Amino acid sequence: MSDIAIRVEHLGKAYQISHEQGRSRYRTLQEEIIGAIKRPFSRSADKRETFWALKDVSFEVKVGEALGIIGRNGAGKSTLLKILSRITRPTTGYADVYGRVGSLLEVGTGFHPELTGRENIYLNGAILGMTRRDIQRRFDEIVAFAEVENFLDTPVKRYSSGMYMRLAFAVAAHLEPEILVVDEVLAVGDAEFQKKCLGKMGDVAKEGRTVLFVSHNMSAIVSLCNRALLLENGRITVDANASQTVSSYLRTGMLDGEFCREVDRPGQKLTIKRVALLRNGQISTTFYTSDTLVVQIEFILRQRLAGAQIAFEFLTMLDECLFSSTNQDVIGDKPVFEAGEYVLCCPIELSIFRPGQYQIKVSSSIPGVEMLDIVEHPVLFDLLDDSSPVLKLGQDRRGLILPVLEWSLSTK
Ligand SMILES: Nc1ncnc2c1ncn2[C@@H]1O[C@H](COP(=O)(O)OP(=O)(O)OP(=O)(O)O)[C@@H](O)[C@H]1O
Ligand SMILES: [Mg+2]
Repeated sequence: MSDIAIRVEHLGKAYQISHEQGRSRYRTLQEEIIGAIKRPFSRSADKRETFWALKDVSFEVKVGEALGIIGRNGAGKSTLLKILSRITRPTTGYADVYGRVGSLLEVGTGFHPELTGRENIYLNGAILGMTRRDIQRRFDEIVAFAEVENFLDTPVKRYSSGMYMRLAFAVAAHLEPEILVVDEVLAVGDAEFQKKCLGKMGDVAKEGRTVLFVSHNMSAIVSLCNRALLLENGRITVDANASQTVSSYLRTGMLDGEFCREVDRPGQKLTIKRVALLRNGQISTTFYTSDTLVVQIEFILRQRLAGAQIAFEFLTMLDECLFSSTNQDVIGDKPVFEAGEYVLCCPIELSIFRPGQYQIKVSSSIPGVEMLDIVEHPVLFDLLDDSSPVLKLGQDRRGLILPVLEWSLSTK
């Protein structure tokens, strides 16, 4: 048996979209009449245009792989999943899928609204090619997972959207599909249910079944998937391991190493003009775990100001804040600045951080009184490993940071 679960070659999907020519939504009667006189034979003023939701998409998924698919709204993610689940046909290319697909798509396909929860479970099992006995074996598990015991004999059209989603997910995940395709299930449902779904998808992936997962939740993608595709305007722009793809996606729109503001901000009391990350006095985007990184912040004050606080947050690329720091922590509770230009420097030893990518976000305020400035772009850097702690402790150790602590041993 081949180890390929999905093979997609030069896949394209075109939609015909109509632009109503020169037509506003609300035309007056006069405009309608004039339009009819000007174009007596045209039945409609519509101009149809071809729009490619997917273009030349090719990739393969191995059996047992958990593949994440990310990208901005409208990038083509759901379109791709709909083609793989045979809900829509591609315009060009083809998608070969080897195995039974259990899918949970945003359209809530696979459920018949008039049928009850119970009937839908059996219907879906039958569609997946399962015997009645196989379905019976999984039935209680599905119902328990979905927590819909009391509504099993109610038509699903009467379900709340949360209940509907719970049952749809339970069916897709428990009816032993060889390939599980899930589109943004986490958007619906409460936090507890989201956690349960992620756990279940993790189990499915661990059992060696193939999972395709679309989400805007980057932490979920990284924790669940070993590989991810980035779709941009219908094309694959990154195909790499999940954390690399997530970082490239999050990087778009961010600046590296330095942030400078050319514009003056008239009328503002305080403006942060520049944020730079320095390595040995030079701006850098690459640091090593043995380095000390200096966050350098230049700001300009238009007037004398008491209590201005400049702060930064040190975050992972998934927006988890590892720590934050302010100039008031050390310089004093309420420093008074005269009008003028200043440079603040704050050194950070990097040895306790994991290799990876990080971002620094800078802002200024008078705490509890007013926000003075927020730097709109985080400044990014890569941290590479050149010192012992990580090598010694190993990347597998849990924790966002990796300190090496001084233990002592004595006899009692
Ligand atoms: N039936 C359709 N007719 C016309 N255009 C469509 C149709 N379905 C999708 N599109 C367009 O195709 C593009 C891709 O849509 P798709 O739903 O795949 O995006 P997505 O990546 O899933 O976005 P989101 O993150 O918002 O869910 C969008 O521009 C959308 O408007
Ligand atoms: Mg979508």
